[in-house]
Order: sequence, then structure tokens, then C-alpha cells
Amino acid sequence: MPFDRALRPSQAGAGYILKKSSELEDNLHDIQGNVLRGYRLPFAAYLFFDFPGSDEGRAFVQSIAGHPKLTTAAIWETDAATGEKIKPEVTLNFAISFRGLVALGIPQSRLSKFPRAFRLGMSAHAADLGDTEESAPRNWQRGLSDASISAIVMIHAKNDGARRNLVVAVRQLAKNAGISEVAKLLEANALPGAKEHFGFRDGIGQPSIEGSPFTDKPGMGTPAPGNTWKPVKAGEFILGYEKESTAQEIPAEIRELCLNGTYLVFRKLQQNVGAFNQFIERASRIAYGSDAPGDQELIAAKLVGRWRNGNPLILSPIGNDPTPASDNDFRYNNDRNGKKCPLGAHIRRCNPRDALDGGDTDVRLHRLLRRGLPYGPHVDDSSDAEERGVAFFAMNANIERQFAFVQQNWVNNGEFAGLGNEERDPIVGANTSGRFTVPGASRFPFVPGLNRFVTTRGGGYFLEPGIAALNKLASK
Ligand code: HEM
Repeated sequence: MPFDRALRPSQAGAGYILKKSSELEDNLHDIQGNVLRGYRLPFAAYLFFDFPGSDEGRAFVQSIAGHPKLTTAAIWETDAATGEKIKPEVTLNFAISFRGLVALGIPQSRLSKFPRAFRLGMSAHAADLGDTEESAPRNWQRGLSDASISAIVMIHAKNDGARRNLVVAVRQLAKNAGISEVAKLLEANALPGAKEHFGFRDGIGQPSIEGSPFTDKPGMGTPAPGNTWKPVKAGEFILGYEKESTAQEIPAEIRELCLNGTYLVFRKLQQNVGAFNQFIERASRIAYGSDAPGDQELIAAKLVGRWRNGNPLILSPIGNDPTPASDNDFRYNNDRNGKKCPLGAHIRRCNPRDALDGGDTDVRLHRLLRRGLPYGPHVDDSSDAEERGVAFFAMNANIERQFAFVQQNWVNNGEFAGLGNEERDPIVGANTSGRFTVPGASRFPFVPGLNRFVTTRGGGYFLEPGIAALNKLASK
């Protein structure tokens, strides 16, 4: 869609009005596919490029913008026999960092209008995010920072062969354009049962987006009266649409580059599975007086807020129901003291749902779309000899208010839940000998000696542009 039609002038003729969520469906062809839906394809590859100059960068962006595998959010066709949607064999998506925009030669008058967090990049405010000590940018994997990366290419595929072929093809395009990779190719693979390396089912809790045909299940939106849920406004994730907050427009100078795009947060998060398992063993003894498998599983579930198969503690507080569950339809109002799900459990921190009702923080304004897959070998042993973790991606319209807020105020600070700022997220917090509070533990509710189980190995902020915007970036 041409920009002048996509951005409707307001009646007054000055500025533009934001699109309504109901307009999302007409724009699916202009939004990149992985933004509105997780593909749930098991093989992924992420390539990281730097642009030596504007001609090279533009030639590469052009080849991506015109690539037949570039995947939009348009609805897939349905298989007449099975009634299932037919997934593509392989998908291609693209995002650009501020460094990349600078390299393309976007004028300063426009560059300066991008939000501050995006302009500065993730590594520049690493300490705010808890990326200190072993997680500090100086210890990140070589080149794996938005201080060095201009663009990221994301490939998802049904099988390894399709992934490999597209990686080869994209590398050829880069070579033709005269650009090179700045960090090692990152491959990620789904683990059995959609689990991450600590052994928990992942990819369950997502915000439902108003107007999106893809995600709307009870529990995904914002708690509303009568035990119902209200979808989150599209503008919280897709740029150019009405938001939950008082709408701030996108500055006119950069609207055409932002419309139907999103800000993509990337983090390579290494998981220290051995250290995590050792902590569980010790914590179960402290909290329950035993390290029998049942107590270990209970403490493991308390750290996350869900049992390993995905069952939420709020719905199954005592025993784990063996049926795999991905239930999301729960809130915390009948568990104010955290006896079912600890106040500091990972999912309660990262999306407190109604747990902060009555306070100053409005949870609606801090939601994240999560994507990503595990990387590294799938081994059951507790050794941390080989690196493994999550290629974590989050999408949001406002990096500061959404991702960085969650990371800074909820993951790395317990004040909001009354736990004090010494207590941090037990899964991803920047812990150094911290503690974890387990209300209602049969023996002792405060478990000390909580260390960092997840180390940041790289990361960055990117703009994942809409298709028309991508074409704009590709043209002189
Ligand atoms: C290695 C790193 C991480 C691991 C192993 C991990 C693991 C998990 C697991 C097992 C769940 C429950 C399943 C689900 O709801 O999908 C979950 C949920 C979630 N995580 Fe993480 N996570 C990691 C990093 C992060 C980070 C860095 C953030 C944000 C800053 C985050 C935000 C969330 C959110 C928002 C939910 C959904 C909560 C809900 O809606 O109830 N996670 N994570």
C-alpha cells in the first residue's frame, strides 16, 4: 500500500491520525509475518550483518525486500483435506538497527526522531538491564551487539535442509551486495515438547492483540470485569496504531519508515542448566526439608510459576496434572500472598496480570510479544560444558516502556511485589547470592544463595519494518 494511503491525513489536515486496531486486518500484507504470529517452525537461523556503506547496505536491503521468501502476516491458505493452515516450508524476515539506518545514509533530521533507546542501543544501557559482570557487553560474543550489527536476517524452516538452503542463498545475496557477517550464524532448534533448556514448556503466555486474526485466547489480554479478558490495543506492538497509553504519534519525519513495523529486542541468553538444577536440589531441602523428586519439582514450578508441562501453579497449586496444559485463563486475585504462585515467580513478575491492581503501575502498558527458540545441544546432563540457551526475541512499540521496563523494574527489582529490591527474578534476574521467597513453604520460606542462571551473550534493538517501509529503505 502506498504511504499516502496508509497514513490517513486527519480531517484538520495537520498531522495524521493513528490507525485503529480494526484496521490491522487490512494491513497484514504490510506487516512482517513473525510479528503477529509465532510460526512454530522448529528450525531457525539468525544472520548478523554490518553495512560498510550506504550503497552496499541498500543493495542488500533491496535483495531482501524483493526476496520471494520474505514472509508477511497475510493469512496462510487452508488445506482442504485437513482444514489446517498450510505453513510455508521456510520463512525470511529482516530487521535493521540504528547503526544500520545510519549506514544507509538516512539524514540526521530523521535519525534524531527515533526513540532514544533504539538510537542508543542495548549495549549502551546494559547496566540498567542487569547486564553486568559476566553478562556485561565486554563479555558478549564477538560482534553480537547492536553496536556492531546493522541488520539481522531471521530464517525459520520446517526442516534443516530448507534452513540451510536459505542461509546459503542469503549469504550469496550479502556477498553480491558487498557486505559481510559480523557475528557467527546463530542456529536454534525447537526442543521436544516445546520446552526450553531448563525443561519447562515455553511459548504459552502471549498478549492477544486487538484486531489480529492470530492470537486471542482467554488469559492473553488484560483482565476485565466478569472474568473476561480484553485484547491489548494493536499500537502496543505495531507502530502507527492506537495504543493503550495516551497516543503519542510517530514523528512525521519517520512515519513512513515505522508504519506497520515494530521494535525487535534480541538477546542471546545462555542458560546454566547445571547450576539451576543444583539450586533446585538445595532449595527444595531448605523450603520443604527434602530433596525428593516431588519437592524438587514443586520448587522448580515455584521458580517459574508453571509446572514443567506448562500447567500454571494458580490452577494446579499442589500437584501437577500430568496432562500437558497451556492454560492461560487465570489471574492472581485469589493468591494475594503468593502461597500458590510466589510473588517473585518468573511469569508473575513478567506479566503480573491483576496482581498490581490498586497500585500505580498499569500492567497493560508493559506487555511483550515473545518469539525465539532454544539454541545449543539438547542434553539432559547437568554439565554446563557446552553453551546452550535461548535466542530470545521480544517485540514492542516502545522499548523503554515495555521491554526495558519489565527487565529493569520487574525482573531485576522486587519492590513492585513488596519483596524488596534485593530480590530478583529467579530465572533471568541478575542475581548474585540473592534469595527467593516461597510463601507457604512447609519448612522455611526464604531460600538464600540464588545466583545467575542466565547470562547475556549478546543483544540489540532493531526496527522490524513493514514491507512498504522496507522497500522505502531499499530505494535511494
Ligand atoms: C533464558 C531465559 C528465559 C527462560 C528460560 C524463560 C522461561 C519462561 C517460561 C518457562 C515461561 C512460561 C511459559 C510461557 O508462559 O510461555 C515464560 C514466560 C514468560 N516470560 Fe520468560 N524466560 C526467559 C527470559 C525472559 C525474559 C528476558 C523476559 C522479559 C524481559 C521474559 C518474559 C516472559 C513473559 C512476559 C512470559 C509470559 C508470562 C505470562 O503471560 O503469564 N522471559 N518464560
